[in-house]
Amino acid sequence: MINEIFNIYNKVDHQFMIIKVTKLLRNLKIKDQDNIIIIISELSTNILKYANKGKIKLELSNKLIKIISLDDGDGIENIELALKDGFTTSKSLGMGLPAIKRLSNRMEIKTSKKGTKIIVELNLRYLSD
Ligand SMILES: Nc1ncnc2c1ncn2[C@@H]1O[C@H](COP(=O)(O)OP(=O)(O)OP(=O)(O)O)[C@@H](O)[C@H]1O
Ligand SMILES: [Mg+2]
Repeated sequence: MINEIFNIYNKVDHQFMIIKVTKLLRNLKIKDQDNIIIIISELSTNILKYANKGKIKLELSNKLIKIISLDDGDGIENIELALKDGFTTSKSLGMGLPAIKRLSNRMEIKTSKKGTKIIVELNLRYLSD
């Protein structure tokens, strides 16, 4: 079991996490590295945009990666809407959460006016498989 926690306060923290996780996934010869990087990048970008700061936690076992995004921002007003392609409250593309949903095997969003927790799971495959 590998556990990592990244505190995300700014773009430097974001970049540091991307580099560190890229190396970790490469060393472990995990397939779908690009998709995992897209997922953590979209979650971390949302943290910075909508909550200012937060955390990304990773839990890796042999078969599964669990990615948990935590923040204590104002929360997502309407989860169903936030998961629709093109829905945004910031004149952006509105593609982050829908992309995460498509690229993962399980996605759970818990949100309130006190913050947001997003749990994403992917079954792991290895390059030699
Ligand atoms: N951590 C969060 N806290 C509060 N609101 C959030 C959070 N993450 C997403 N949202 C809300 O959900 C909406 C959809 O998020 P999503 O990532 O899909 O799109 P976006 O960030 O607006 O655009 P893109 O990711 O394509 O640049 C956001 O516009 C925002 O209103
Ligand atoms: Mg986004």
